[in-house]
Amino acid sequence: MTVKYSPFDVHQTKNPHETLKELRSKCPVSQFMDGFYYLSKHSDITRAFTEYSTFSSSGGPAQRETQIPKDERTINWYDPPEHTKLRQLLNYSLNAKSYLQSEPFIRKTTQELLDKFAGRKQVNLKEELSRPLPGIIISYIIGIPLEHVDKFVGWTDAMTAEAARRGVSPTEIYITGDKIEEARLQREYVQEQIDVRRNSSNPPDDLITRMIRYRDEEGNSLSNAAILAQLRFLLFAGHETTRNLISLLLYRLIENPKLYERVRNDRRLVAAAIEETLRIDGPVQLLLRTVVKDVEVSGVNLPKGSRVILGLRSGNRDEDAYENADEFNIDRKTSPMHLTLGRGAHYCIGAPLAKLEATVCINELLDRYPKISFAPGYKREKEDNYSINELKSLDVVFPE
Ligand code: HEM
Repeated sequence: MTVKYSPFDVHQTKNPHETLKELRSKCPVSQFMDGFYYLSKHSDITRAFTEYSTFSSSGGPAQRETQIPKDERTINWYDPPEHTKLRQLLNYSLNAKSYLQSEPFIRKTTQELLDKFAGRKQVNLKEELSRPLPGIIISYIIGIPLEHVDKFVGWTDAMTAEAARRGVSPTEIYITGDKIEEARLQREYVQEQIDVRRNSSNPPDDLITRMIRYRDEEGNSLSNAAILAQLRFLLFAGHETTRNLISLLLYRLIENPKLYERVRNDRRLVAAAIEETLRIDGPVQLLLRTVVKDVEVSGVNLPKGSRVILGLRSGNRDEDAYENADEFNIDRKTSPMHLTLGRGAHYCIGAPLAKLEATVCINELLDRYPKISFAPGYKREKEDNYSINELKSLDVVFPE
């Protein structure tokens, strides 16, 4: 039995839920092009996340396998035990303590963005709130001067737009994209930031400086290329995803005024609304792995060398894992964790930060506005991008 679905087709991935349902029931492991398999079941995806000695990250995170020098590879390109070293390095600066320390800054930034709405009846919440906030926060955490954030976020946006235009994932663009002007400018800029710290006798105590000073147990430091690669990935991973979480969560609350009011009156529900948004509207739609030994998954033999797509978008709506899986329901009690932040060794290192940003942002907005409605004529539309779930806009009005 075959069901035609290509997870790389931007048109087919715009509203694929009926097709994904059919895939899950008829061919949970489907081959959609030579050597590429799509896993659609929650259980199979969870297995692939955790069995990294079979489902390896070593083939790279992009659609086309890319040959680049090893130390230019980003952390999500390694398997343990090599991966563990890089993870420890990032954990040193990206951890619960550093995230919590950034909370006052997240709040202040959110308030400043919201202050700009004063006296206005209509705004595009995507452009004016959820898009800028995570870019400012991740830049602050890493150590990028705030006055450079706009230009920095602009380059990343341009890369994402170029990815959509070419029908590839943003990851692919930033890995191979130095032929793109914005990718080159971003690389040069991050390199400058590294150089400034290397040449300073008193560099700021930020992530960049810590990466430069890092020594492993044998006393080896990270090469310049390795530092550059990890920083560029972090800057990208830290905001392309989180901003969509915030937009999609806002969309779900504004769509349902009763729910908006309920969450406004009981802020303990914000956490559940975030988790349910991550499940049903996950900003990351798929991930890639490479099979490094022959393996059987749900009765299908995957030969060594196959590339496997972990269909997060499908697994998150798997009816074997979630009752009424297509329903946005913040009262779920016993369901398994969604797949949107990964599992196992590569579990998203920024997950607590993304949730903190979303929590602060939603609470600040709820404090200020008893009601928000979609602007007249507003229609939910998804950007043309097969790997990221992004609204085209979020135009709202604040009723009197
Ligand atoms: C809603 C927001 C976010 C989503 C949906 C998300 C999603 C993910 C997923 C699915 C993975 C696992 C990748 C894999 O298994 O191959 C991951 C890893 C990662 N994320 Fe996030 N992420 C988010 C926010 C962030 C933020 C704010 C940061 C920055 C602090 C970040 C940094 C990273 C890094 C560095 C990794 C690689 C971890 C590793 O390979 O060990 N992410 N993320």
